[in-house]
Amino acid sequence: MILRCTTSRRRVHAWLLLWRPPWKRRHHTARKRCRPTKLPRALEPEAAGAPPAAQSSDSAAVWVSAEMHQCAREGCVPCRAKVLLAAGAKSVANGRPEECLRLRRDAPPPPPGVRAVGLYRPGQRILTVGDGDLTFSLALARAIGGKRLIASSYEQREALSRIYGTEIEEVISELQRLGARVGFGVDARDLARSLPAEWIPRGGFNCVVWNFPCAVDAEARSGADARSRNFDEVVQHRKLLSSFFRCAAALLATGDGEVHVTHKVGLQQWNIEEMGNSSSPYEAALHYMGSVLFDRSAYPLYRPRKALCKRSFPISDARTYVFSNSQQPGCSSLAHSKKESNGLICLEVASIHL
Ligand SMILES: C[S@@+](CC[C@H](N)C(=O)[O-])C[C@H]1O[C@@H](n2cnc3c(N)ncnc32)[C@H](O)[C@@H]1O
Repeated sequence: MILRCTTSRRRVHAWLLLWRPPWKRRHHTARKRCRPTKLPRALEPEAAGAPPAAQSSDSAAVWVSAEMHQCAREGCVPCRAKVLLAAGAKSVANGRPEECLRLRRDAPPPPPGVRAVGLYRPGQRILTVGDGDLTFSLALARAIGGKRLIASSYEQREALSRIYGTEIEEVISELQRLGARVGFGVDARDLARSLPAEWIPRGGFNCVVWNFPCAVDAEARSGADARSRNFDEVVQHRKLLSSFFRCAAALLATGDGEVHVTHKVGLQQWNIEEMGNSSSPYEAALHYMGSVLFDRSAYPLYRPRKALCKRSFPISDARTYVFSNSQQPGCSSLAHSKKESNGLICLEVASIHL
């Protein structure tokens, strides 16, 4: 089902989309911990001296995975909040991510064997970049298998051990057991040189993924994240991302490759939608296809981390921005997902421009 809503009708549509009769709603205790939240205030690009935000028509749509949508319909507080906030609601009861119905102890376990997860399908050649404690990669490998996965972190192995202790060794061992290769000291600005040549598939990657990119300065400031109102820092983040787009694009499978960057929508001054576009001054030879609400519950093991430390941060407003090296709409994973009935089905909920 696809809804295209005007600003005034959007909230009504979103409520209709999620409304369930009370007798069909699942009872759960997580609601007790609800608290109201507001959409993060977009930072004014002009105020920070950054270029104005892109007004691409694609950026006016947001997609929701079928699983998150279903979960929201069943009364899951955090999933419901994500969808409604994306649809323009100003104040919605929210809950902690671990209160999601799909993460509860009594939730049915995922089906055995390999299966599609989020935007990813078994058989795809995937490279994860800047994956900090590597838990996103491990969650991915557990679902789709690790044989075609290259997981990487910017830090060297010793630095990761210092930061994350023995847990990181367990994560690395399991990744390797699942057949994944794990790279350390892999620089998003120079992927081709920092990855062993034999790890780069001859046909290219189907997907290069970076969740919550953030520049880390030479002094390796621990706890860095992407929030910044300081112009110089924003410039650093944007420079890093534009180099990443350029070299990730060069490693993609011809006509069947995507770059996924997950980020918080509050960081609009980064102007991510425009950065990967072939028409942008950054010339990454990619086409922006749309954004999908990030479904953290699809990756139960994953905990987003600030740079170089164990601390996490809230990501309820996060989206995955999808860029493709093909202009054919049918080639993007958003198009695939529309076709698949049991995999990921994305619903276009609303424009985010209010
Ligand atoms: C905010 S953290 C997010 C970590 C992880 N992706 C997650 O979702 O938990 C940003 C990450 O980007 C990494 N990073 C910074 N500069 C990088 C670069 N040039 N190449 C690759 N990764 C980089 C940092 O080491 C850090 O792990």
